[in-house]
Amino acid sequence: TTTVPSTSVYGFGEHEHPSFKHSMDFVTYGMFSRDQAPTPLANLYGVHPFYMCVEADSNAHGVLLLNSNAQDVSLSPNPSLTFRTIGGILDFYVFLGPTPENVVQQYTEAIGRPHMPAYWSLGFHLSRWGYGSIDVLKKTVDRMHYYDIPYDVQHLDIDYMERRLDFTYDKVNYAGLPEYIQQLKKEGMHNVMILDPFITKDEEPGTYRPYDLGEEMGVWVNNSDGVTPAVGKAWPPGDSVFPDYTNPRTVEWWTQMCLEFKDVLDYDGIWIDMNEPSNFLRGQYPGCAVNDINNPPYVPSLEKNLRVFFLKKEFHPLFSHLSLPVLRATGKRAFVLSRSTFVGSGKYGGHWLGDNFSRWKDMHQSVIGILEFNLFGIPYIGADICGFNYNTTYELCLRWMQLGSFYPFSRNHNAEGNKEFAKISRTTLRIRYSLLPYLYTLFFESHVHGSTVVLSFLSYFTHRSGRTSICKLVNVCLRIVTAMLLHALP
Ligand code: GLC
Repeated sequence: TTTVPSTSVYGFGEHEHPSFKHSMDFVTYGMFSRDQAPTPLANLYGVHPFYMCVEADSNAHGVLLLNSNAQDVSLSPNPSLTFRTIGGILDFYVFLGPTPENVVQQYTEAIGRPHMPAYWSLGFHLSRWGYGSIDVLKKTVDRMHYYDIPYDVQHLDIDYMERRLDFTYDKVNYAGLPEYIQQLKKEGMHNVMILDPFITKDEEPGTYRPYDLGEEMGVWVNNSDGVTPAVGKAWPPGDSVFPDYTNPRTVEWWTQMCLEFKDVLDYDGIWIDMNEPSNFLRGQYPGCAVNDINNPPYVPSLEKNLRVFFLKKEFHPLFSHLSLPVLRATGKRAFVLSRSTFVGSGKYGGHWLGDNFSRWKDMHQSVIGILEFNLFGIPYIGADICGFNYNTTYELCLRWMQLGSFYPFSRNHNAEGNKEFAKISRTTLRIRYSLLPYLYTLFFESHVHGSTVVLSFLSYFTHRSGRTSICKLVNVCLRIVTAMLLHALP
């Protein structure tokens, strides 16, 4: 337990926090990576045991507890913080600031500077789970062009796969996908394919290379006997095994599979989903051993319905982190979008805030999440514009497009084809595009100096002082106002 010099405490993740500045009224946040749609205060996809405290005189400091075990932290009005972790070492780092921006710079110096995103990835992204066929995909792409919506990147969700099997594509519903991808590339578009880090073990032997090769190379997470692969259940048919990314052979296998797949579908980026890792079973076959590891004497404040299983517990949040560097092997600046993240993941890729809901509240929450991931050194961050779960409404989706046009990572996971809607989306996205050189520069500064890309107005005025930044802000505001005026003219 430690006292803190003020009640202005920010950070800790990944959660849906009601406000950017935390309440210190005896709240407890659990941290353990979990496949969990954003729910207030629950432990979500990633783990970031890092906070920043801003004092009355505006000086700030940050603290990281570098620990990946299940843990929680309680905030109390004293003001004080209490950390409880069930394993590992108490490896605390203190970052002295003095400005909030300095704290983030020092933090990312320690954990790894954010990666430099490719310029194209700052354009607008479109995605949807369930286009269902290449015809629908083509019509969607054509409709985007017809309405002249600025748009650079098309995502493909699990329905492009054959029966949700990684490293395959559906040769019936998506017949001609490799050629279509090439055509889009020639037209200057980029594409991102989803991959899930579990591999079914139940295909006919000799018919599914990702499993056969992985089996031959011995790359799966094993049970505590150290030899039998642990089995769970996820998207693909049958039961699944899970790559053990702590094993160098697994990295070889994963890289090999990604490179071979690139020869089939020439993707520009990978969206690594479900990498908490997610498992649809409660535990594993034939059940979890009854011991102190599976039933620790102190259970941190975590969601009770744990889909936690078999991974040595301190590796659990590291699973995703270790799967991220893979695209370095392509020799290009990599685009990796990860659902689960840990301390330092920003060095390899970006993140989106997961399976949010089409609700006004979720739109509001996205701003808080984006500010927080800028503290965590993952400035390439966005939320599913218009909301992922539930049906969106016209007004909500429109306002969300207007907000999401300014997310560092701007992706809509649902498309609308209405004319007026298109006109407004086009206008706000054009403002985004007119600001891309500025956004790119912010990412460069983040990559080199560890600065934030998005920060709160308060920090802007109090801490990123200096004429240049104020001028930049005025410049951006002027551009937005000009573009809006131009739009309002008949
Ligand atoms: C997960 C992802 C979501 C994706 C879906 C299907 O729920 O978070 O973005 O669309 O899986 O792959």
